[in-house]
Amino acid sequence: MHTNSSVVIVGAGVFGLSTALELTRKGYKHVTVVDRHVPPVPDGSSVDISRVIRFDYRDPVYARLAKEAFDVWHADPKFRGIFYHGPNAFIASKAYGRTHLEKCTDVLDGLGHPWKPMPNQEAIKATFPILYGDTINSAVSGYCNASSGWADAQKAIALLRNECIEGGVSFICGKKGTIASFKLDKKTSKIAAAQTESGDEIQGDYFILSAGAWSPMLAPMYNSTISTAQVLAFINLSDAEMNTYKDLPLYIDYDSGWFCFPPHPEARVLKVAVHGWGYTRKTSHNDLSLPPTAIRSKRTDFAPEDGVARLRSGLKTILPSLADRSFDRVAVCWYNDTPSGNFIIDYHPDHSNLFLATAGSGHAFKFLPVLGKYVVQGFERTLPAELQNQWRFRMEYKDQENEFHGDGSRGGPARREFTPQEKARL
Ligand SMILES: Cc1cc2nc3c(=O)[nH]c(=O)nc-3n(C[C@H](O)[C@H](O)[C@H](O)COP(=O)(O)OP(=O)(O)OC[C@H]3O[C@@H](n4cnc5c(N)ncnc54)[C@H](O)[C@@H]3O)c2cc1C
Ligand SMILES: *[C@@H]1O[C@H](CO)[C@@H](O)[C@H](O)[C@H]1NC(C)=O
Ligand SMILES: *[C@@H]1O[C@H](CO)[C@@H](O)[C@H](O)[C@H]1NC(C)=O
Ligand SMILES: *[C@@H]1O[C@H](CO)[C@@H](O)[C@H](O)[C@H]1NC(C)=O
Repeated sequence: MHTNSSVVIVGAGVFGLSTALELTRKGYKHVTVVDRHVPPVPDGSSVDISRVIRFDYRDPVYARLAKEAFDVWHADPKFRGIFYHGPNAFIASKAYGRTHLEKCTDVLDGLGHPWKPMPNQEAIKATFPILYGDTINSAVSGYCNASSGWADAQKAIALLRNECIEGGVSFICGKKGTIASFKLDKKTSKIAAAQTESGDEIQGDYFILSAGAWSPMLAPMYNSTISTAQVLAFINLSDAEMNTYKDLPLYIDYDSGWFCFPPHPEARVLKVAVHGWGYTRKTSHNDLSLPPTAIRSKRTDFAPEDGVARLRSGLKTILPSLADRSFDRVAVCWYNDTPSGNFIIDYHPDHSNLFLATAGSGHAFKFLPVLGKYVVQGFERTLPAELQNQWRFRMEYKDQENEFHGDGSRGGPARREFTPQEKARL
């Protein structure tokens, strides 16, 4: 490939934009990003008021890359007002979750990153007095590290978009940027063009598929991804409550998957969510689970009842002072999961000029400052062998049932299909 090649990137989330920016940095002259909507895309997975930035992983590869990204979030002045540095608490109660935490702290030890053990609930409360109310009776334990934080995802994406525009990336958004399908060159099986919903064709030498949870609509994934909806909720905080909860850590309960952020200083809300197995929305499109495609100006104020109950039950234990407060808004947000939780950053097995940069598996946002660098290394076939292997397109899940066991970080009940009534409200 050559910097004169034209590269069409489908999807303007963290994968697509970070890739576009890196391509322009490397001198590519013809980079076009297409999307259903102008980024930040309101229902895109990369867009919300917050995303967790941590380098706690049981896999040392992601821990190392996440620390690399964290250092940029923390030090680069362009992320001021976007990245909020703060402490975290990683908690587990059952043995399953504790094993996950032990693996994470083993990795931190291996990388020489200190952490503070919190062997029981008293120790957790001593570090973070705002937690648990007066109830000290459950068998929870965990650890914390002062070096983590969260980012205002929407602002980070807007910044990345502006950097892309300044770097010379072209954007096509709306119906003219919504890809209906790829048109194949019958002889070579290469992608000849992307056909848009407006009936136009966008030609390119290379196509990069970064359409997040929508990606399986556009290329066969051979059961190596599944799109799942995850629940979240917001509580508006009064001035007094903003003060009460100002020292709330980034809290992740790896048993239930429940997690919360410190209050957002501008949105003045508390956000809680569940990192779980999620919900599927099977469609007539090859029986695949997919998010709705209609453009919306914001996420629908809907989450399934059992999901809302899980959000509430976390609140009851962890922040009992808010247990009875109604949520001001709920929503679902889409993960593009792989069986192992690994991203897919590789050429597609069927089409030699189609590259995939997707399958964030619910944890890709934090890599924003470094993700494009690795995607472009994959694209140029210069990724170190270890990463190339980690992110390869896997055919081994083809014809296999439910291989989606994740990276050990998920909690709560099994994945289930939305009911028809729920689907109608999404
Ligand atoms: C509730 C929730 C919480 C999360 N929390 C965290 C966290 O705390 N920390 C973290 O690191 N990660 C987190 N993640 C994961 C992270 O946000 C995702 O892995 C990442 O944002 C995925 O980015 P993406 O570029 O693949 O997808 P997206 O941002 O969804 O981008 C895909 C884009 O493709 C576009 N598109 C789709 N179809 C088409 C088409 N046919 N034509 C043109 N364009 C199309 C869409 O409009 C969209 O803008 C979370 C995710 C969710 C949903
Ligand atoms: C967390 O990790 C960072 C990076 O290794 C380290 O500098 C810091 O001291 C750690 N904090 C705690 C509380 O262990
Ligand atoms: C919560 O805050 C948002 C933003 O300020 C506002 O639009 C909404 O009406 C509030 N909700 C309630 C129930 O007060
Ligand atoms: C995906 O797996 C299902 C079984 O769960 C199987 O019926 C189907 O053929 C598989 N699809 C592909 C493309 O491998």
